[in-house]
Amino acid sequence: MSTKDLFATRTTRMKASEIRELLKLLDQPGIISFAGGIPDPALFPAEGFAAAFQNALGTERQAQALQYSVSEGHVPLREWLVDHMRQIGIDCGLDNILITSGSQQALDYLGKLYLSPGDTALVGWPTYLGALAAFNAYEPRFDRLGINGNRRAAEYAAAAGEGAVKFAYLSPDFANPTGETVDLRGRETLLDLADELNCAVIEDGAYQALRYDGDAIPPVLALELARKRSIENCRTVYCGSFSKTLSPGLRVGWVVAAKPVISQLVLMKQAADLHSATINQMAINEVARACFDTHIPMLRRVYGARRDAMLSALREHMPDGVDWTKPEGGMFIWVTLLKGLSGADLLAKALETVKVAFVPGQAFFPDGSGANTIRLSFSNSDEATIHEGIRRLGVVLRT
Ligand SMILES: Cc1ncc(COP(=O)(O)O)c(C=O)c1O
Repeated sequence: MSTKDLFATRTTRMKASEIRELLKLLDQPGIISFAGGIPDPALFPAEGFAAAFQNALGTERQAQALQYSVSEGHVPLREWLVDHMRQIGIDCGLDNILITSGSQQALDYLGKLYLSPGDTALVGWPTYLGALAAFNAYEPRFDRLGINGNRRAAEYAAAAGEGAVKFAYLSPDFANPTGETVDLRGRETLLDLADELNCAVIEDGAYQALRYDGDAIPPVLALELARKRSIENCRTVYCGSFSKTLSPGLRVGWVVAAKPVISQLVLMKQAADLHSATINQMAINEVARACFDTHIPMLRRVYGARRDAMLSALREHMPDGVDWTKPEGGMFIWVTLLKGLSGADLLAKALETVKVAFVPGQAFFPDGSGANTIRLSFSNSDEATIHEGIRRLGVVLRT
């Protein structure tokens, strides 16, 4: 018997993330990388964090900072989040919020909460790779979530076969990987569908704060609240993250949902890691209170200019037949190459000949389609580098 024979069946569905494997190659000198969807470290509120950690450790608060704490999360941070959620249209109480170790942990817990083997998760086609990986461990079927109402509830239910449709997962603002936003009508249609299917909605708000132009659209949970009056009547579960706004390294995210959902997630948290790092939650709380409202407009200005630079470079350098999204926020532009071309082949060629990296799109599709797509991230390069990288990509595409 080999070691692997002992592993549970769920492990057969777990694959190394292409993005993580790729990031390992990017330390070579001279590479221009549009690969990782990561914030620019130069923009971290580093001084604020230095002061916050010093405050937590150098004072009478250190006993609290270094101690175990409650699974639900640091109360002052949850209080700040109640206020923050209200500002984006979501009225909730302290008991509707759980702090998680990044929103990735929330996605894992939500997979664990809802999915029995064979159940169906409705996801975008493509969708965030980390969500697919998190849900995959619970052995679901994936079906394609059509936001525009062209598939009816009965059709989804029939496709689910023996299992049930348990939730629809989406990132309605500036999704990873496409950068696209679901409009108001799409969000309302989704809520109608979820009511008909009697399934949950998992709203991933990882990029919600990073809008560069256009008007903000209410979160799906805010729209459901407007229909159902109280969060306790809502089926939408909102996942938030400080990773794209303050720091991903501290691993602080949160979930907002009806109390029965939060209570069950708290049990999972107790079983998994007891609570997220106390001192990190204290530091995030302090920095969020001190500078969130000024930090976000700064990020919007800087990332917005980078988005503009990439769009203009694409217009200038892409050959005919190449198409791309025009995101109003977030970190990504999604490029569709001519049919028959392969994003993976293009990456190999681009790395070797012009030292440009990006993520081939295929991994974002549950059925392995989308071979002729690639994801470009503009968040971590300055405008001159973006122009140069896209120029080089244009050269590779023409040869
Ligand atoms: C759409 C989306 N959701 C969730 C995450 C996970 O973020 P974190 O666990 O750092 O909060 C990411 C990270 O890239 C993401 O792109």
